This record gives sequence, structure tokens and C-alpha cells, in this order.
Amino acid sequence: MSLKRIALWGVAALVAFVVLAVAAVFLIFPRVSAAPDLKVEATPELVARGDYLFNSQFACGACHTPEMEPHRFSRVSDKSRVGAGRYMGGVPDFPADIYAPNLTPTALGDWTDGEIYRAIVSGVDRNGKPLFPVMPYPFYKSLDPEDVKAVVAYLRSLPPQPVTMPRTKLPMPLPVVMRFVPADATPQKRPDGTDEVALGKYLAFTSSCFECHTKRNERGEPTGTPFAGGNPFSLPGGAVATSANITPHKEAGIGAWTREEFLARFHSRNAEADMKIMPTGHDFDTEMPWNHYAGMTDADLGAIYAYLRTVPPVGAKVTLFTPAAEK
Ligand code: HEC
Ligand code: HEC
Repeated sequence: MSLKRIALWGVAALVAFVVLAVAAVFLIFPRVSAAPDLKVEATPELVARGDYLFNSQFACGACHTPEMEPHRFSRVSDKSRVGAGRYMGGVPDFPADIYAPNLTPTALGDWTDGEIYRAIVSGVDRNGKPLFPVMPYPFYKSLDPEDVKAVVAYLRSLPPQPVTMPRTKLPMPLPVVMRFVPADATPQKRPDGTDEVALGKYLAFTSSCFECHTKRNERGEPTGTPFAGGNPFSLPGGAVATSANITPHKEAGIGAWTREEFLARFHSRNAEADMKIMPTGHDFDTEMPWNHYAGMTDADLGAIYAYLRTVPPVGAKVTLFTPAAEK
């Protein structure tokens, strides 16, 4: 055989190997168990609890409810279209389009309670297809089953929103890489609050505080010091908000904030107030869904504060807002 032929065979073998490996990944992953056989008894109490969780504590609505148009401060959600879904933009450096799906009965009407439950905690759709982990299921996998059931009951109670959201489009290699992310749930019990720090930790990880306030690599994996901030978010209008250092460092973090100041900062925001602010790209704006979290109880916010006092302080200062460049 000539050298050229050997080289050609080598290339052909390599291509065949890659194709087989990718096919194997698609066959074997995601490795997630069947949806649980579950019927959620939707009492009014459970639906009300789900409303609190969806719209305030977990801020699911910050992604799954369309934003007010034109853009308002802190991305105010359109309360008349809760759960209708929205276009979330791309991934830096990738030609991707991410859509948070419609979660109202228009879209999930055919799903079983167990399939919705599994999508939230394990990250696969009803057919077992993986969800892109912008949806924070890697954190939801440790949720208390009672919290997840309350959210399912609430989603079932939503008025239908007749919108068809396109599905997320991702370029290679993301569709392969993300098949490894979904996993079976590892449920915890929600700490009851007698141990405030334990409750605060549960909330800080499942309510996306850790996720946004810890530096991530381009694959979305947390690589920075927990809660030291530094993730940039592009805002409509061209400005950039960067997540704050919320460690208890006195100068760089929130170590000098009292509990009252912390609670007041959250409660000072609400959708009505934020509706009135239409940022131009030059005045302060943010990606943090303050007006969602503003509805959290003092007990829950206070627990987050108590937990954040216990994480190691980090001295790195963050510039929270960079206005759009002058045209
Ligand atoms: C940071 C944004 C974000 C947050 C917060 C978020 N989601 Fe999602 N969610 C998404 C995106 C994006 C998808 C679709 C991913 C894809 O298409 O691969 C998704 C998918 C889903 C799906 C699957 C629907 C389908 O049609 O496949 C369900 C169910 C869901 N989310 C429920 C929730 C619930 C409940 C919460 C709060 C506990 C929540 N999500 C919080 C962004 C988010
Ligand atoms: C979608 C990303 C995102 C999520 C989720 C998020 N934050 Fe933030 N946060 C930011 C950004 C960006 C800023 C900086 C701009 C601003 O002040 O809003 C910020 C600012 C803050 C500040 C103000 C710090 C200062 O020095 O002024 C506090 C406190 C805070 N976040 C706490 C939290 C807590 C607690 C949670 C969870 C309940 C949370 N954040 C969830 C993105 C996020």
C-alpha cells in the first residue's frame, strides 16, 4: 500500500470512530430514569405555594414569562402572560438561539405530572431529550419533592397561553456535550428554618444566587470562588451588568450590610416601581430579577443573609454596571 492510501484509510477509520462514538453518546445518554408515576393533588394551598416558588423564590418566571416590551429595569415580566415562554438570546461565541418554553397547559397539557416533575429536577423533556442547562436543573435536582410538586400544581393552574415557542437551537458540539448533564434527582428535605443557615444554603443554591454570583467558564460550569461574583450579562441597549461580590468581605462584598439593609434592598424593588424605569443603556440596569425576589418572605431572605455571612470573604471588587459605548 502506498503511504497516501494508508493515510486515507487512517482518516476514514478516524471519521468512522468519531461517528460511532457520537452515535453511542446519543444512544446511551442522557441516563435518566423513567418519569415518576405521580399525581399531584392540587389543593388551593399547594397552588398558592407554587405561585410563591415560581414567581418569587425560584424566579422561574424571570426566564419563562415574557418580558415587558419595551425593556424595563431588571427585566420586568409581563404578569398577564405568566409562563408563556420567551426568547433568551444566544451563548457567547456560539450561533445559538435559546428559548425558554411555554409552560402553560397549552404546551404541557399532554404531559403527565411525573414528566413535568422529571423535567424540572432531571433536565429531560417528556421524550427523554436533554434540556440545555441554562435551565438550572443541575441545582433543582436537590430540591425537596414537596417544593417541586407545588410548582407542578401551580403550572397546571395557569391560564393557557396560545403561543408556540420555537425549540432551542445549538451548534455542535453543544448537543453532544449537554447529553451528559441530565441526571436522576438527589432530593433533600427543605430545612425548616430552625437552622437558619441550613435553610439559607438550600435557598442560595436552588434560587440561582450561587449560579449567577459565582464565575463560570464558557461551558457554564462554576469555576470561581463561590458568591464572589464577576459574571457579565449583556442587557438590551448595549450595557453590561456584572454580578456582585456577595461574600461577607467588608469593602468588596456585602459584609458591611446589616440584615435590615439586606431585606430593605430586596423589598425596595417591585414590578410596579421597575415598570416605570426604562433604561437607555446609560443608566443603571441589571439582569438580577430583583422584582421577583422582592416577593420573598423575610424568613427566606433573612436565611439567605445568615448563610451568606458564613461563606469565606473575598476581597475582589466588581464593577456592577458598564454603560453602553457612546455611538
Ligand atoms: C435561567 C433561566 C431559567 C430558569 C430560572 C428556569 N428555566 Fe426552565 N427552562 C429554561 C430553558 C432555556 C429551557 C429550555 C431548554 C432547552 O430548550 O434545551 C427550560 C425548560 C424547562 C422545562 C421543559 C419544557 C419543555 O417543553 O421541554 C420545564 C418543565 C421548565 N423549564 C420548568 C422550569 C421551572 C418550574 C423553573 C423554576 C423552578 C424553571 N424552569 C426555571 C430556562 C429557565
Ligand atoms: C440572573 C443573574 C442573577 C441572579 C439569579 C441573582 N443575582 Fe444578584 N446580582 C446580579 C447582578 C448582575 C448584580 C449587579 C447589578 C445589581 O446590583 O443588580 C447583582 C447584585 C446583587 C446584590 C447587590 C450587591 C451590591 O453590592 O449592591 C445582592 C445583595 C445580590 N445580587 C444578591 C442576590 C441573591 C441573594 C440572589 C438569590 C436570591 C441573587 N442575587 C440572584 C445577578 C443575579
